[in-house]
Amino acid sequence: MKFDSTILSRTLFARGARRLTAVVLAAVIIAGCGGGAGGGGQAAEDQVYLIKFPHVTAPGTPKGQAAERFKQLAEERFPGRVVVEVYPSSQLMNDDDSLEALAFGEIQMIAVSLSKFDRLTHSYQVFDLPFLFPNLEAVEAFQASEAGRATLTEIADRGFLGLAFWHNGMKQLSGPRELRLPEDADGLKFRIMESDVLQAQVLQIGGSPQKMAYGEVYQALQTGAIDAQENTWSNIYSSKFYEVQPYMTASNHGYIGYLVAVNPQFWQSLPDDIRTGLEEVMADVTAWGNARSAEINQQARAKIAESGRSEILDLSPAELAAWQEAMRPVWDQFSGDIGTDLIDAAIASRP
Ligand code: SIN
Repeated sequence: MKFDSTILSRTLFARGARRLTAVVLAAVIIAGCGGGAGGGGQAAEDQVYLIKFPHVTAPGTPKGQAAERFKQLAEERFPGRVVVEVYPSSQLMNDDDSLEALAFGEIQMIAVSLSKFDRLTHSYQVFDLPFLFPNLEAVEAFQASEAGRATLTEIADRGFLGLAFWHNGMKQLSGPRELRLPEDADGLKFRIMESDVLQAQVLQIGGSPQKMAYGEVYQALQTGAIDAQENTWSNIYSSKFYEVQPYMTASNHGYIGYLVAVNPQFWQSLPDDIRTGLEEVMADVTAWGNARSAEINQQARAKIAESGRSEILDLSPAELAAWQEAMRPVWDQFSGDIGTDLIDAAIASRP
């Protein structure tokens, strides 16, 4: 069992002793288990397997719909044997707490934004590099490539066995004033996810980055604790950020997608037929959900426009180029950590 204690302790130190103790303890437990219970196989036939699956977005988002579909298909395939409890909208816990809870085996499945695995691996930082992926097709091609596929299970030895990558969509900027050029962002407090790449990106455009849980963003925008944010159309719509952000910029400057992960010990403890069947269900749901995510985001954009609460700005080629140029130094800052091989594979996946 290998643990990246440098990354881990840097972030966790800031969050206080409780979380540090909790996640390190979880790592010790995982290490002690020696990498798995060795296949269920022998379980009683009347045993029911409960999968608690909390997440932070609304039921109508790409992730919300895919999670519900996983529940439906898994329970149909194994009636009375598998029960999936989906808790959307941060109802049960936020993303940080779900990482800890999965490592401890308190919950069994998560779909957390790739940006939020910063303290466990540098590889997923590739997904945060601004303007690296022009669209979801490029992300999908990268995730299907040899290099991309290898990252799926990369943190299994740290307690997070990746089963799939799910898309949300491309990120857009929003703020209290028109953000047409990078200098318009100067001095604004931007909420970002827990990611050092996103922190560097905001600093590049003269903003002040504030890491914050998703469930706190609406109120922080409403009260003025933060001025601006970046997110997908579906998140901006379903969490009503458009009600408190008068301007949106269709920048498509980054990507939000998820690692769907399970606790490895739990997964290996399932009877073989159930584990294999659930992996097949997950593959079907992933194809179904990823094929719909762009459309869900476009519908959300249309609803925001119809609401009249927020003005959506499309960028001219020159304006877009200015954002690309301003954010580009972030690539050099992080290429050493991420690895140029991974970045090159992502570039090679562009259509
Ligand atoms: C999510 O899509 O799961 C939340 C993203 C965020 O924290 O902004």
